[in-house]
Amino acid sequence: MIFFDKETKTFYLEGKSTTYAFFINKFGYAEHLYYGSRIGRDPLFYTRGKGGRTCAATVPGEKIDGFDEGSSYHYFPSELAFYGNGDYREPCVQVENEAGDRICDLLYDSHEILPEKPAMKGMPSMRGGETLVLHLYDSVTGFGADLYYTVYPDTNVIARRVVYKNCSDRVVKLRRAYSFTMSLPTQDYDFLSLHGAWGMEHRIQKTALHNGVISIDSKRTTSSASLNPFIALCSKGATEESGEVYGVSLIYSSSYVLKAEGVNDGQTLITGGINDFDFSWKLEGGEEFETPEVAICYSSEGVGGMSREYHDAYRSYLINPNFAKKSRPIVINSWEGTYMDFDNEKLMAIASAVKGTGIDTFVLDDGWFGTRNTDEAGLGDWYVNEDKLVGGLNTVINHVNSLGMRFGLWFEPEMVNEDSDLYRNHPDWAIHAPGRAHCYTRNQFVLDLTRADVRDYIVDSVNSVLKNHNIGYVKWDYNRNVTESYSELLPADRQAEFAHRYALGLYNIFDRIILANPDVLFEGCAGGGARFDPAQLYYFPQIWTSDDSDAEERTLIQYGTSIVYPLSSMTCHFSVVPNHQTSRIIDTKTRADIAHLGTTGYELDTSVFTDEDRELTKQQIAEYKGMEPLIIEGDLYRTDNPMESNFFGFTLVSKDKSRAELTCYQRMGRPNAQLKRFIPKGLAPEKNYYVPELDIILSGSTLMNVGLLPVFERGDFKTVKYHFEEK
Ligand code: DGJ
Repeated sequence: MIFFDKETKTFYLEGKSTTYAFFINKFGYAEHLYYGSRIGRDPLFYTRGKGGRTCAATVPGEKIDGFDEGSSYHYFPSELAFYGNGDYREPCVQVENEAGDRICDLLYDSHEILPEKPAMKGMPSMRGGETLVLHLYDSVTGFGADLYYTVYPDTNVIARRVVYKNCSDRVVKLRRAYSFTMSLPTQDYDFLSLHGAWGMEHRIQKTALHNGVISIDSKRTTSSASLNPFIALCSKGATEESGEVYGVSLIYSSSYVLKAEGVNDGQTLITGGINDFDFSWKLEGGEEFETPEVAICYSSEGVGGMSREYHDAYRSYLINPNFAKKSRPIVINSWEGTYMDFDNEKLMAIASAVKGTGIDTFVLDDGWFGTRNTDEAGLGDWYVNEDKLVGGLNTVINHVNSLGMRFGLWFEPEMVNEDSDLYRNHPDWAIHAPGRAHCYTRNQFVLDLTRADVRDYIVDSVNSVLKNHNIGYVKWDYNRNVTESYSELLPADRQAEFAHRYALGLYNIFDRIILANPDVLFEGCAGGGARFDPAQLYYFPQIWTSDDSDAEERTLIQYGTSIVYPLSSMTCHFSVVPNHQTSRIIDTKTRADIAHLGTTGYELDTSVFTDEDRELTKQQIAEYKGMEPLIIEGDLYRTDNPMESNFFGFTLVSKDKSRAELTCYQRMGRPNAQLKRFIPKGLAPEKNYYVPELDIILSGSTLMNVGLLPVFERGDFKTVKYHFEEK
C-alpha cells in the first residue's frame, strides 16, 4: 500500500515485502530515501549525506554554504534527476525551452494516491495497482512531470513511468524523456544484462559498477536480441538464491537505453527509457508526452528471487489474462518440416499424422500468401497463394478442424518484399530516406508504421484473413531491423520522433488486431527471440524463444531468457535431428525434456512419422500435460547454470509446494566423470516427498541439502528427471 506521512512529507510505497521511500525536501525536491526489504514507517532523514561537498552548486537562489547538508541537487539521491541546476548526473529529462536553453527545475507541486492505476494511452503497461502520482512543476517555464509509482500487494515489482507536460502556451522540445530515476546508496554492485544474437539469445553478462556510466541500449527501432531491455544490479557476492538484487525491466519495443551511473559521492543512479541518441519530441503548448513504463524490482533472495518476482508480476499483471494462466495449445508448426515448399496434401498429411497424440493445433508458417515461394517475394500480399494451396486456405483448415485440431497461421505484417503487389503499388510505404538506397535484410523492407494509411492497410488485411477463416492461433513474425529511419509524412523538425512513433504505430496495430480478436492466441516471434520484451508479452502470451531448436543451445537460451521472463512465455519446440541449426544429434528424451521447460510444441515433418513416433509423441505430451501447471503457475528455481558449467538444472515447484520436478542435464559425458549432485530448491523443508524415480520418500530438507545423484546415460547431452510428490 502507499502511505504518506504529512509531517515528514515522506512517501512509503509498500509492495509484498518491500518498502520504497522518498520525501519532499525543504527545497521542494523529491529526494530518495530507501528501497529494499520492508521496514517500519520510520523517519529516515538520518541517512542523508552531510557536509564535505566543497565546490558543489547550491540549489538555485539559495546562498547556502556547500558544506550544509544536502544543499546541492547533485547530492540529493534523486527521484527525478534534471539538467541545468547543478546536478551533473544522468538527467531523466532534458527539455529545450522556447528561448533555446535546456534548463528545468522540477519541484513538488502536489500528489494524488489512486486506488487503481489509470491505463496508459497507446502503450502497453501493467494492469491495475494502487498508484501514487507525484506532480512536479517548473514555475519558470510551465513544464511539468507526473511521476507514477504503482505497487502490488503480492509482488515486489513496482511499475513506474513519467508523463511530461507542457503546461505553457509555448512550444518546447524534449531532447530526452526517460521513464525513471532510481537511486541506490552504494556502488557495490555488478551490472547484469542479457546480450545475444540470432540463434543465441539472452546470454548473461556481468560487469562491476564503477564511477561513470555503464549502459546498454538498442538503436534498431526494436528491443533486439543484441541486448534485452533489462538490467539488474546485483550486490557483491549475490548468488542465484542469496543477496540483494535490483531489477529494471523496460516495457518497450523500440530503441531504448538503460544506464547505471556510479556517482562521485559513492552512490548509484539508475535511469533510462526511450533512447535519446536519435530522439527529440516537439511538445506544443498544453500537450503531454507519456514515457514507457518500467518494472523495477527488489529481491533479497538473489537473482533467482528477482526472476520469480518478475515471473509472478508479469503473469498476474502484464500478460493478456485471457491466456496468462491457462493451458496452452500444443502446436505442430510447419516451418522446419516444409519451409516454403508445401501443398495442401503435404500440410494435411502433417496434421493427420499427429491425430490422437495430444497435438491440438496445426500452425501453417511462412509461404502461404502472395507469390511467396522463397524469401524474395510476397511479404505484404496477405492473400492466399492459390497456385500452392489450391482452393484456398479452407481446404487445409477444414481438414485440420475435422481432426479436432485448431488452425494457426503465420504473418509478418510489418514487412514488405520489393517483389510484391504491395510494394509495386505503394513503394513509398516502405521506410526510406530521400535520395538513399534501401539496406536489405532477408530481401525485405520495414513498412512505415508511423503512417495511418499503412497501419490501416495492415489492420484491414490481417483482420480480413482472420474474419474469413477459422483461425485460432497466429504467429506474428518480425525478421529485420529498421534502417534509413525517416518518414515522408513527418515534418523535418519531427523526424527524430520516428523510432518512438514506430512503437506507437506497432502498439496501435496490435490493439486493433490482437485485442480485437480476443479468442485468438497470438504468438510473438522475431527471427526467434529478437523482440522478446515485456511490451510484446502484453500482447503475446508466448514468444518463439529462438530459431535455434537444438536442445544443447536451448539450455543456454532458456536459462538466460528465464532471468526475466516466465517459462510459460517461452515457446519451445521439439525438432528433428540432425538439428537444422547446429547439425547436432541429440536423443529424443533430452530433446523432449528441454522442450518441456516452456510452452512446448513440435516443429518437424510429422508426415513421415511411424507408429512408434506417434506413440512416443503421445507419451511426451501426456508427460508434459502432467507438468504444465508448474510451467504456467509454478515457481522456477535455477539450480545449475550451463553458461558456467557442464550442467543445467531447473526445479519447478507448485505454489503450495506440494509437488515439484527437477530436470538435470549433462552436456558432455566423460569417462571417470565427476559425481555431480543436483540440489533441488524451493521445496518445503518440513514436507515429505515421494520420489518415484528412486521409489523413496525423503524430506524437503534432505532433498535440498543432500541433493540427488543422477546417473546419466552414456554419451553427451543427456537428461535425468525427478518428480517430487508430497506424502
Ligand atoms: C523466422 C522465425 O523465427 C521462424 O520460426 C519462421 O517463422 C521463419 N521466420 C519464417 O520465415
